[in-house]
Amino acid sequence: MSRRPVPSRRLADGGSVPLVGSLSQKSKASPLLSVALVLVGGFLLIGYFYGGAGHFSEKEAPRAEGLSCTAAVQHAIPILKKAYGDSMRKVLHVGPETCTVVSELFKEEDTEAWGVEPYELEDADGRCRSLVRKGIVRVADIKFPLPYRPKSFSLIIVSDALDYLSPKYLNKTLPDLARVSSDGLVVFAGYPGQQRAKLSELSKFGRPAKLRSSSWWIKYFFQTGLEENEAAMKKFEQAANKRSYKPGCQIFHLTS
Ligand SMILES: *[C@@H]1O[C@H](CO)[C@@H](O)[C@H](O)[C@H]1NC(C)=O
Repeated sequence: MSRRPVPSRRLADGGSVPLVGSLSQKSKASPLLSVALVLVGGFLLIGYFYGGAGHFSEKEAPRAEGLSCTAAVQHAIPILKKAYGDSMRKVLHVGPETCTVVSELFKEEDTEAWGVEPYELEDADGRCRSLVRKGIVRVADIKFPLPYRPKSFSLIIVSDALDYLSPKYLNKTLPDLARVSSDGLVVFAGYPGQQRAKLSELSKFGRPAKLRSSSWWIKYFFQTGLEENEAAMKKFEQAANKRSYKPGCQIFHLTS
């Protein structure tokens, strides 16, 4: 008699605790309440929305453009041209949405471009499928050696791809990227704290991005025997300042 089902009661309590508490309670409770969820879905959505909004305003601030570094790469092309000059003649881009980057690179004079798409191409448009058919863009798991001969490209640009690799695979992939490049490697990596922006893409990438600090990367490059390309770094910064380019990603310039 005194026991009665109280799903609505639990939710009312949840609603009155601070937002962080209500979020964690939600994630624990939701598998148990899967049936009740249909009825109270609206309520949960509101809670999630508020929680999410609070989170974003704190952590998303440094991000200037888009949800990935792909946009940052596209905007960086003219600046990379200034910094790298002739080294932009044969570029390989490695990362999601590589068709977009490759198409953008094609617009540059004196630049040939290729791409490696590390994840499945789900909703590729006709233009992208054509790039794949011609062998300009390849779909390849970058945990394994790239299907190119040494120094096939003058410059390699990597974005949103290394963040998903553990140090074990980074140890194989980074030297392999250096192997296929003759003049250098430009790495676009996410800032720590951008994790949530990638949550929607989890199913595609298989594991959450491990967004590392710039000191982590620099230490890692050093341990792996990769050197930062100081000259390119300086030129890039100068050109970026001139154009008020503020990337939403960390950018590293390495020699190969
Ligand atoms: C990666 O390589 C570095 C440098 O060679 C080494 O110190 C480190 O233990 C390696 N990490 C893994 C997980 O294999």
